[in-house]
Amino acid sequence: MGIDHHYSDHMNEETLLSQLRERYPEGPTIYQLAPIDQLHIGGIKASEKLLLQLEKIQPKRILEIGSGTGGLMRLISNRFNTEISAIEITTVDITHRFNTLNRSITELFSKDISVRIVTCDAQQLPFADNSFDCIIFQHSLLNIPDTEDCLRECRRVMDTNSTLLLHEVIQGPNPEQMRYPVPWARTADQSHLLTLRELTEILEVSGFTLDNTDHWSEEALAWRKRQTSKENNTDTPTKKITPISPTQILGDDFNKMAPNLIANLSGGSIEVWQLSCTLQTA
Ligand SMILES: C[S@@+](CC[C@H](N)C(=O)[O-])C[C@H]1O[C@@H](n2cnc3c(N)ncnc32)[C@H](O)[C@@H]1O
Repeated sequence: MGIDHHYSDHMNEETLLSQLRERYPEGPTIYQLAPIDQLHIGGIKASEKLLLQLEKIQPKRILEIGSGTGGLMRLISNRFNTEISAIEITTVDITHRFNTLNRSITELFSKDISVRIVTCDAQQLPFADNSFDCIIFQHSLLNIPDTEDCLRECRRVMDTNSTLLLHEVIQGPNPEQMRYPVPWARTADQSHLLTLRELTEILEVSGFTLDNTDHWSEEALAWRKRQTSKENNTDTPTKKITPISPTQILGDDFNKMAPNLIANLSGGSIEVWQLSCTLQTA
């Protein structure tokens, strides 16, 4: 089964969009969309960490790889195109239905966001050499079978002195305890985790210099536990209205994925890291 089926076979875009229209007639906020457009461990808090890096480097031409339903690109566009200066944002994703949903959600969110959204495989990017000065992966390298090949392609489309930002799941010290399904894979063959050491070596061989590492598995675990308690809270009066939830994207399997994430983080089969690297040569 292709990875696009893992992500889109269980979602019902029409129901989700009409629910969003009904619940948020003025348009949903970034926080209201988070359960279905921040499909990574750490939610908006994790994306804010990437924004801090972007504030430091101030890129002009960003490529986000594996953008999902578009939460990060809306955050970036919202923050940078108003507070700093206009930047060009391009996103790619292999799951075409995510890109279509991304466009529809963006329409509901704001008419002012202009982003190029492209369906393609990150291992064959349809862009000219030196097209970008920043590339971001947020929980998408974890699905890519050949990291070295993918980074070679990134390097081709990156300009000299560009930045690569990664917010990724890394294989921890106890991979044998890994439980499936997880949000990025229903079975082990869809998950392509590397140890930090393996990833660092591939980055170096691919011409990247590692400038900054941030290991925040503990925060990630605390975040997932808080989310689980919110998702399981059945006592609120709003319970009669179907809540916006990751199950609308990943299906009922999400109810197994969430506890598995907690078990995998607690048991050391996965870790969450944010890395920032510079490309030294063109
Ligand atoms: C776990 S989701 C994360 C989505 C988004 N970055 C987020 O954090 O909400 C992984 C995304 O990577 C995309 N993806 C997986 N393999 C890909 C590939 N080879 N090329 C492009 N996108 C890919 C998937 O379709 C999916 O949207």
